[in-house]
This record gives sequence, C-alpha cells and structure tokens, in this order.
Amino acid sequence: MNYRHAFHAGNFTEVLKHMALCELLRLLTAKDKKLFVLDTHAGAGGYDLRADEAGRTREAEAGILRLLAASRAGMPPAVVRYLAAVAAYDRKFGPAGGALRHYPGSPRLIRAALRPGDRFIACELHPKDSLALKREFAGDQAVEVRQADGYHAVKALLPPAERRGLILIDPPFEATDEFEKLARAVKQALRRFAVGCYAVWYPLKDEEAVAGFVAGLAGLKALTLELRLPPSTDGKLSACGLAVINPPWKFEEAIGEALSWVGVALGATPAMATVPA
Ligand SMILES: C[S@@+](CC[C@H](N)C(=O)[O-])C[C@H]1O[C@@H](n2cnc3c(N)ncnc32)[C@H](O)[C@@H]1O
Repeated sequence: MNYRHAFHAGNFTEVLKHMALCELLRLLTAKDKKLFVLDTHAGAGGYDLRADEAGRTREAEAGILRLLAASRAGMPPAVVRYLAAVAAYDRKFGPAGGALRHYPGSPRLIRAALRPGDRFIACELHPKDSLALKREFAGDQAVEVRQADGYHAVKALLPPAERRGLILIDPPFEATDEFEKLARAVKQALRRFAVGCYAVWYPLKDEEAVAGFVAGLAGLKALTLELRLPPSTDGKLSACGLAVINPPWKFEEAIGEALSWVGVALGATPAMATVPA
C-alpha cells in the first residue's frame, strides 16, 4: 500500500467528490429518520495543506484553493454549502484568516452532517492512516473507526439496521484490477441493500475500463458526474468521475448547477449524465 491521501488532499477530484458528498448528506439527513453512513476507504480524516506531503504536490492549488479564489456572492447553494463545510473544519484549528490551511477528508465532512442517533463507520486499511483516523475521532461515540478492508465491510455491514444508508466507496486505484473489485463490491452491496445510496469515485484514465464500469450500472437509478481538467503533461490525473446510485430527490438539480459553476471556476469541463436504463 503506497498510496497516501495526504499528497492529494483538496485537489480537483476532492472538490467534485466532497461537494457531492455534502449535498447527499444534506438531503439524506433532511428526512426525520436515522441514517447509517459507511466510508469504505476513509483516509486519515483531515489534512494540513502546509504539511510536507501536500506541499510537495501542491495539488490543492488547482482544486479547493482555486475554487476559494473564484468564490463570490451568487454562487450555487451547493458550492456555498461545501465551502462552508470546508471553512468550518479549518476553523477548528483557530480563527479564520489567511489562506485555507486545514482541509477535511470525507470522514470529517460526514461527521459534521450527522444528527444524534445517526451511525457512521469509517474503514481505512493503511496502518498509519487508520491510526490517524482513530486519533481524529478519539472519544467521539458517533464515529466507529475500523482498520479494515472497505470491500469486506460492504459485505459485513450491509444492510444496516436503519434501512437508510449512504455508502461512499473511494478506493486509491493503485491496483490494476481496482475497477473489477469495485464493480464486484457494488454488485454485492446492491444485492444486500438495494435501496442504499452509493457514491463511487473513479479516475478517468482508462476510458474503456470506465465505460465497462458504467455499463455495469445499467438499469439502476444512477447518475455520473465528471470533471475534466486540460490533460496534464506530467502524467498526473486530470479527470475523474463519481457515480451516484439511488440519489435522493433534488440531488440532480442541486449538483448539476454546482458542477457547471465549479467547472468554470477550475477551468475544467464538467459533465453529468443519467445512466441508461
Ligand atoms: C482516495 S483515499 C480516501 C480519501 C477519503 N475518502 C476522503 O475523501 O477524504 C483512499 C484510501 O483508501 C485506503 N485503502 C486502500 N485500500 C483499502 C482497502 N482495501 N480498504 C480500506 N481502505 C483502503 C488508502 O490507504 C487511502 O487512505
């Protein structure tokens, strides 16, 4: 396991994934019924953009920092809410002022949206990151951190007792067979918990593999969201997608508007499509 998420915190892929995540959480917690959230590949929880890792890649500059620089009155509400969630995490470390320094990972964004009685399990396999994640939520009864394989967790933890759930699947795509593992996990998850809402992140590098993965979602109620930066010359990832299965009511409208705005702000091409029946 070589992948360390600290090198990529706050980059353009995070903007897409985390803005959609915030919107899904908002809509799913609007209903007065308990929610279960599973983050299968959770990372370390939160990141210091001035730490050595983020400083070396400076990926946040084309992501959250560029978005913040472009922010202005009249932005779509989903962008405003995402930026507010990011700012709220940064403020935990001290009063606002100066450039953003602390960026929330998915577990922090999820935790901030939970209501009393909701349940959250975060799985992270890397020993160092799972330890950091355990420290991040030490003493917090609302969060259960497991050093565990997120794909196994899908089998072990679904369906949840609550019968309402959001499952974020955000693998590192280090392994060459990650798309196959992902497709298998999504199938297994849906067999156990067909009504769950799933957000599944993927890189847009191998277009054939992506097309195969999306084709496998045919017949489901699902959307794909994409963001493409101009191709990079240094081999860095320049495009990614998020498949959302069983999106809540009003998600498509809110995220579509926000994605178009973010595309312009980041100099990227956004796309949203409904998965064919
Ligand atoms: C893309 S990062 C997650 C980022 C996080 N979801 C966020 O948005 O802040 C993927 C993480 O999965 C971890 N990982 C790799 N294989 C795993 C597995 N089989 N189960 C759980 N975690 C895994 C990696 O160590 C890495 O921290």
